[in-house]
Amino acid sequence: MDPLLAAAFTVRQNAHAPFSGFLVGAAVECDDGRVFGGCNVESSSYGLTVCAERTAVFAAVAGGARRFRRLAIATAAARLTPPCGACRQVLWDLCGDIPILLGNAAGDTLTFQLRDLFPEPFDAQSLA
Ligand code: THU
Repeated sequence: MDPLLAAAFTVRQNAHAPFSGFLVGAAVECDDGRVFGGCNVESSSYGLTVCAERTAVFAAVAGGARRFRRLAIATAAARLTPPCGACRQVLWDLCGDIPILLGNAAGDTLTFQLRDLFPEPFDAQSLA
């Protein structure tokens, strides 16, 4: 298995998802080779929940990383889990057009370029 996906599965074990029961892990690889993990963290006020992808990228930024190579997302879902719309926006803003590797417990994998998941983005250029 790709080591980045393995890292996503490892951090998935820390997911805090008592409301949905849907456990997600994500791992982002920085251009210096460091890997930061994140899991979804749910709130009883459901809208305050943070997805695994944003947790991972925010941890990387907090660790001083600013440039990213790729991100992996791990779940147990039969249908591979792509990032939600909010995460696509944040990933585009912070990571740009990186490959997004999806994997599930059955061993299925699929890779998308973020640009294909998030075409015609609103971003910093839009504010110029
Ligand atoms: N979730 C993620 O962490 N990432 C995704 O890509 C999709 C959704 C979380 C949010 C919530 O805790 C649970 O999965 C169900 O939506």
